[in-house]
Amino acid sequence: MIEQSRCLPGFIVFESIDGAGTTTQIRLLAEKLAAAGVPCRRDAEPTSGPIGQLIRQALSGHLPLHAATVAHLFAADRAEHVEGSSGIRANCAAGRLVLSDRYLFSSLAYQGLTCGRSLPERLNQDFPLPELLFFFHLPAETGMDRMKDRTSLEIYEQLDFQRQVAAAYEEVMERFRDSGLRLCRIDASQSIEQISATIWQEIERLLAARSGG
Ligand code: TMP
Repeated sequence: MIEQSRCLPGFIVFESIDGAGTTTQIRLLAEKLAAAGVPCRRDAEPTSGPIGQLIRQALSGHLPLHAATVAHLFAADRAEHVEGSSGIRANCAAGRLVLSDRYLFSSLAYQGLTCGRSLPERLNQDFPLPELLFFFHLPAETGMDRMKDRTSLEIYEQLDFQRQVAAAYEEVMERFRDSGLRLCRIDASQSIEQISATIWQEIERLLAARSGG
């Protein structure tokens, strides 16, 4: 069982299997926040930093690495993402909302499958948790179908593996049920507009709580 760390106020994470539409929703949310004058930062993991770029090479299949090495790289990329000078912690402390497309829950689900549960749990046990976690659930078949026009797929983007990831995510979410973070499950088979409206309701609630309303 993961030791639960403190939730970071203003830190918001989106998680899902591949092809569930989190990137689109983060873009829409960032636009709404900008229109409402709420300072926010859009982030993703793997990051665009040097370790993230190395990870992308591994994900593309061009850099064959052992599964344990990949788990370590994701954790190193995350450490910089959290603690770096323009990282999550600094941005939250400056009063911004930080929206991250994936975080440690991805490592627990994906690397939990590729190298067993204990290594990713150990590597990720000290990171702060988000205040709010949007978990998009979707059948693996639908996610793969949404990616069918992509010119190239990454190593994890295969139906059998995505099915296993979907099941692994359910276990991961269950383990964080009493961790203090707010978990919002989103049915990702809904329309883009429906999902965006649900997310906005949650964000309005969070903003009201932040302003003491
Ligand atoms: P994406 O940019 O399309 O979300 O792709 C990132 C891929 O990396 C996706 O297949 C999930 C995977 N991933 C992990 O396996 N572990 C992690 O910790 C993270 C952040 C992503």
